[in-house]
Amino acid sequence: MATSVTINGKTHQVDLPDDVPLLWVLRDEIGLTGTKFGCGVAACGACTVHIDGEAVRSCQVPLSDVWGEVTTIEGIGSPEAMSTVQQAWVDHQVAQCGYCQSGQIMQAAALLAENPAPTDAEIDEAMQGNLCRCGTYPRIRAAIHDAAAKMKEA
Ligand code: FES
Ligand code: FES
Repeated sequence: MATSVTINGKTHQVDLPDDVPLLWVLRDEIGLTGTKFGCGVAACGACTVHIDGEAVRSCQVPLSDVWGEVTTIEGIGSPEAMSTVQQAWVDHQVAQCGYCQSGQIMQAAALLAENPAPTDAEIDEAMQGNLCRCGTYPRIRAAIHDAAAKMKEA
């Protein structure tokens, strides 16, 4: 039986086994490839998306356990209309290879929704599960502070 799942505001009927991870549904079934596969064991954060605003590791959420509306990197903005967090990433030229960055942005967006003015320590704590092999951590922190300031002005 198909499972109904809402992704970026659109409801899809997904005819896959219940234990298929959400990450596979997003990438292989729906074609939303902005969310990346890194480790598959909840250790890197590359696959981070939101479910009802909460940052989750989509490699670890079986299709049958998707409890709310899914938002991916494609759902928070577009190249023509970037979210404040995405724009801050561009302004600070955060990405190096870029592979980890959609997960980083989704984790940061969830942090800022919960804490609009995080300290360095709060940023480091919230982002500690999102690994970057290129070592872009200082730029990630700067971009989060910048996004927080811009969101406050808006
Ligand atoms: S791919 Fe999901 S945490 Fe690494
Ligand atoms: S930018 Fe290369 S892994 Fe993070």
